[in-house]
Amino acid sequence: MTQIELHNDTAARYAVIGNPIAHSKSPRIHAMFAESLGQTIEYDKRLAPLDDFVGELQRFHDEGGVGANVTVPFKQQAFALAREASLRARQAGAANFLMWRGDHWYCDNTDGAGMVRDIEVNLQQALKGKSVLLIGAGGAARGVLGPVLLCEPSRVVVVNRTAVRADELVAPYRRDHPVQAQTIEALMASSARFDIVINATSSSLSDALPLPTDAVLCSGDCLAYDMMYGKEPTAFMKWALSHGAARVSDGLGMLVEQAAESYVQWRGSLPRAALIIAMLRAELAAS
Ligand code: ATR
Repeated sequence: MTQIELHNDTAARYAVIGNPIAHSKSPRIHAMFAESLGQTIEYDKRLAPLDDFVGELQRFHDEGGVGANVTVPFKQQAFALAREASLRARQAGAANFLMWRGDHWYCDNTDGAGMVRDIEVNLQQALKGKSVLLIGAGGAARGVLGPVLLCEPSRVVVVNRTAVRADELVAPYRRDHPVQAQTIEALMASSARFDIVINATSSSLSDALPLPTDAVLCSGDCLAYDMMYGKEPTAFMKWALSHGAARVSDGLGMLVEQAAESYVQWRGSLPRAALIIAMLRAELAAS
């Protein structure tokens, strides 16, 4: 399917599929993208039964669906069912993006590129040559490690509560990139300081910290970035600000940028995410 055909298909159908899904901001974000670009799309939320993601995707496709975002807990299943996958989806072993290509689903993972764009473009913090601490080794961390390493940081350290998962995460990258796994104890005992500290754990969901409160990790100009977001700064952001971080950010910009990375692949036009991030931030503050 060419991009010109996509532009002419003004009522193309898209959706975000997950469980739960009621909270998803993706329909709103994609509606804002389409409006800002003068395009018309349909983009719905679809709740897939926990045991029938494949069936729900089939029903969506039968109804004319040509592209989907996929969220928790189906990203690995989305990757497994796609016949064609991008490098970054293969690196993550998970996909948040599906696009129908004539007779099969193509998948991608736009989470990492979304976070990198938020950090480098919106927050104006280059990753090249910088030292990065990535906290977490679950799906969220897997989605971002490859794209972060592509930016050529000087060093990436990965730590995780369950240390073996950090070892497994870095193993495929260790030969070609300056990345290593460390235990939290080793990190605490070292005097390492980082330019960018990324919380890719889900600790903020339970208002917890992913590391001991007395950890000293930040260089003088450190950006602390939490992939979670909310109306208020997360526990991690508050902790980082009082432990030497020069700047903190939550993951709202990442959410919008990963959506923009999806939109451009489906529709051929890159939305301007910054304005939409600002609008969503204002809505969140007023909610
Ligand atoms: P996700 O897709 O959100 O990454 P996940 O694959 O379940 O979800 O991974 C959750 C991540 O958050 C893991 O790195 C988890 O650490 P463990 O591997 O030790 O479970 C981490 N995590 C969740 N709650 C945490 C907490 N309170 N403190 C530290 N790490 C936490």
